[in-house]
Amino acid sequence: MDKLKMHSPDLTEANIAKLAELFPNCVTEAKDAKGEPRKVIDFDLLRQELASSIVEGPQERYQLNWPGKREALLTANAPIARTLRPCREESVDFDSTQNLFIEGDNLDALKLLQETYLNKVKLIYIDPPYNTGNDFIYADDFAEDAETYFGRSAQKDESGNRLIANTEANGRFHSDWVSMIYPRLKLARNLLRDDGVIFISIGDEEIHNLRRAADEVFGEMNYRGTIARATGTRMGSGNTRISSEIDFVVIYAKSDLYEFQSLPMGDEDVAIYDQQDERGRYLTRSLRRTGGENRREDRPTMYYPITTPGGQAIYPIAPEGWESRWVCGKDKYEELLRAGLIEWKQVQKEGVSRWQVYQKHYLGEGLKYSSNLWVGVEGNKKATRDLNQIFDGRKVFDHPKPIEVLQRILMISTSAKEECVIMDFFSGSGTTAHAVIKQNCDDNGKRKFIAVQLPEALSSDNRTQQVALEFCDALGKPRTIAEICKERIRRAGKKIGSENAITAPNLDTGFRVLKIDSSNMKEVYYTPDAVTQEALPGLVDNIRADRTAEDLLFQVLLDWGVDLALPISQQTIAGKTVFFVDGNALAACFETGIDEDFVKQLAAHKPLRAVFRDAGFVSDSVKINVEQVFKLLSPATEIKTL
Ligand SMILES: C[S@@+](CC[C@H](N)C(=O)[O-])C[C@H]1O[C@@H](n2cnc3c(N)ncnc32)[C@H](O)[C@@H]1O
Repeated sequence: MDKLKMHSPDLTEANIAKLAELFPNCVTEAKDAKGEPRKVIDFDLLRQELASSIVEGPQERYQLNWPGKREALLTANAPIARTLRPCREESVDFDSTQNLFIEGDNLDALKLLQETYLNKVKLIYIDPPYNTGNDFIYADDFAEDAETYFGRSAQKDESGNRLIANTEANGRFHSDWVSMIYPRLKLARNLLRDDGVIFISIGDEEIHNLRRAADEVFGEMNYRGTIARATGTRMGSGNTRISSEIDFVVIYAKSDLYEFQSLPMGDEDVAIYDQQDERGRYLTRSLRRTGGENRREDRPTMYYPITTPGGQAIYPIAPEGWESRWVCGKDKYEELLRAGLIEWKQVQKEGVSRWQVYQKHYLGEGLKYSSNLWVGVEGNKKATRDLNQIFDGRKVFDHPKPIEVLQRILMISTSAKEECVIMDFFSGSGTTAHAVIKQNCDDNGKRKFIAVQLPEALSSDNRTQQVALEFCDALGKPRTIAEICKERIRRAGKKIGSENAITAPNLDTGFRVLKIDSSNMKEVYYTPDAVTQEALPGLVDNIRADRTAEDLLFQVLLDWGVDLALPISQQTIAGKTVFFVDGNALAACFETGIDEDFVKQLAAHKPLRAVFRDAGFVSDSVKINVEQVFKLLSPATEIKTL
């Protein structure tokens, strides 16, 4: 029987496997520090394979580099032995909801989700710290041990979290920020579907570095533009630097399969369709290209004669007399003509009557979003007012993003018709989760969210956080931003749900809370060689004493790559509790005293996967027989132990 591995995937190993597929001859074996054989790359051979296209040594090349890049790459690839522990009390509709709230560092969360959500997420929206010099960056500790780190930074918060205010006095001001964002972007990309997309909010401070890092991670060809949005907050003028009243959202697709969706039309959009015929409302646009690139030499194939209703051939000639061009080639023009989408109008000029040609656009063809200038959306002050309202007028969070902006992002990147996963791993006050619930309510969508937020300690030095801290105290909750975020989603979900109980009775306003914690397995699980003979009796069970059956269940789901948002039910079989995930997708029993009779009864349910505790069997012979019993009664079941 196979054992579960109980740590996040080792991405270096995965990269070696990918190279092995292309160049099997370049993968060889070497012994690691413990003398165990492991797969390694023979770089000399790989170099030979790529001889004509390799850049060696100090030769100049175009690339993004910063002190810490190597560590950032290692940070992204290193596996972690952590897990997600469910927390029913803090969840809403734990058993049935399809939404997840993950509490912890997003680097860990992204690693833990690598297998389960690989190529599954349609949209990722993030709003990372902008690196204003006052916001906090959570320092990853892969490259340095704690002593070295604290020696350098001499900063930690009261709960010992290594959060640093990244001030410009710090010589690594930009490097620290890029080192923070780069591994997260790399891991995030793996989670995106091939037709998926990431929207990243950013300010002036790091937009240049973000673009360079994201170009490298997603590929420059997948850059889809940068939205500029007026924040609506007047800053006055600065003498040394022009003041910033806009906020950016940078967009990268996973591949060319991503397409922007249409935005529903507002009254203003409909009003421009000012003509009508038996097919409906339409507008006309000149068939001759106007604006830029409108000369014959710009597109010579778009200069050709067409015939007027009067039977004359006309060419695209500008009013000033120079040769211009049509908006499309001849084939496309003929297609438009056959489809009845060409309209002729006779105009009088200086006593002479002339034909002019137009293309008809009917209402209902949908408006594709194409502009990078977002005007007329809610500003930041409105966002703060809306959030304050949720918290009974108290201001508990600085700089939330407007819900309407997130809804617009949801509308142009996802469709209401399709069930899809939306992720935000810098959740802050939970605007993305709120917007997903609201948008699903507005358009009857089936989007599900995964919100990740660090339990960042609230500080009494900051007025807003002081209010938030008092709020947490009143609720009897820990003083963290994650608590504010969960409470916001609870309140927003409840409000939207109750206000729309009749029109949206099946709206999912719940979320399953999962907290990142140390593995459920004792150290010995990972380092069996280190155990001495004398210590063995205490280690018969390899599971930490404080972990519940539900904790184990979620670690199994993670390890097996089973969706963490699937419905879970419990049944008692032969006096033992069994968890069934999504009907019979997985059956898990973590009790002790498992005998053959129980195994037979469980096998009769024909689960696709079954899992037991290694120390759960009454005897070694039962453990050995399990596979036989399943082979007989449910041969398709895959069985594992932990
Ligand atoms: C700019 S705020 C996001 C605000 C959010 N868009 C909203 O509308 O409320 C960034 C958030 O990311 C969180 N954060 C920073 N580093 C993190 C990390 N390593 N893991 C998870 N969350 C983190 C911070 O606690 C902060 O609340």
